[in-house]
Amino acid sequence: MKDSTTTKKDAATTKPAVKPTTALKKEIERKHMVEAKSTAAEKLRELFVDGLKDIYWAEKALTKAIPKMAKNATSAKLTAGLTSHLVETEGQISRLEKVFKIIGEKAVAKKCDAMDGLIEEGKSIMEETEAGPVRDAGIIAASQKIEHYEIATYGTLTAWAKTLGENEAAELLWTSLNEEKDADRSLTEAAYHDINFNAVDADEMMDNKKTKK
Ligand SMILES: [Fe+2]
Ligand SMILES: [Fe+2]
Repeated sequence: MKDSTTTKKDAATTKPAVKPTTALKKEIERKHMVEAKSTAAEKLRELFVDGLKDIYWAEKALTKAIPKMAKNATSAKLTAGLTSHLVETEGQISRLEKVFKIIGEKAVAKKCDAMDGLIEEGKSIMEETEAGPVRDAGIIAASQKIEHYEIATYGTLTAWAKTLGENEAAELLWTSLNEEKDADRSLTEAAYHDINFNAVDADEMMDNKKTKK
């Protein structure tokens, strides 16, 4: 079928696709191929253990970050939600220690740069907002980014544990995965039903109503 948007002029100026030469392909590969460290993982099991060390560090860091967020929140609902997730986080640390034991590995924490960055972002959101509903909305946003990272991590680790035949470990990781999903859901509910609306001040609401009329 003829493309109605193509004019004669377009057809005349359309260049044929350029195929990269072998030399160009090699050049691209040389520039973008990441060189592995001498300690690099060769097997899925090593990657799995590395991932466990990462989230073990992340959960430990969160036991220090969550109380700060809870202290800075003004909504009682948000403070209660964060405090109860702190208790869950401590349980997740013990669960990870069990996982290490089951798979015959030492429980070691390895700095998780991603979680470190997310916690830092949470700190700056608090610094950049006055205490009150707006900071609460910021705390929810920062917490949900953290939960989503944890959901992705536990989801991957559960799948890898199953693939490696570590079913008992998979079961424990799956339990933590569901706790993270629940925490994310309650943060969404708090934001939609309460906190985001409190963050919009009365004048702003009046303006919005006027614009809608
Ligand atoms: Fe967690
Ligand atoms: Fe969490």
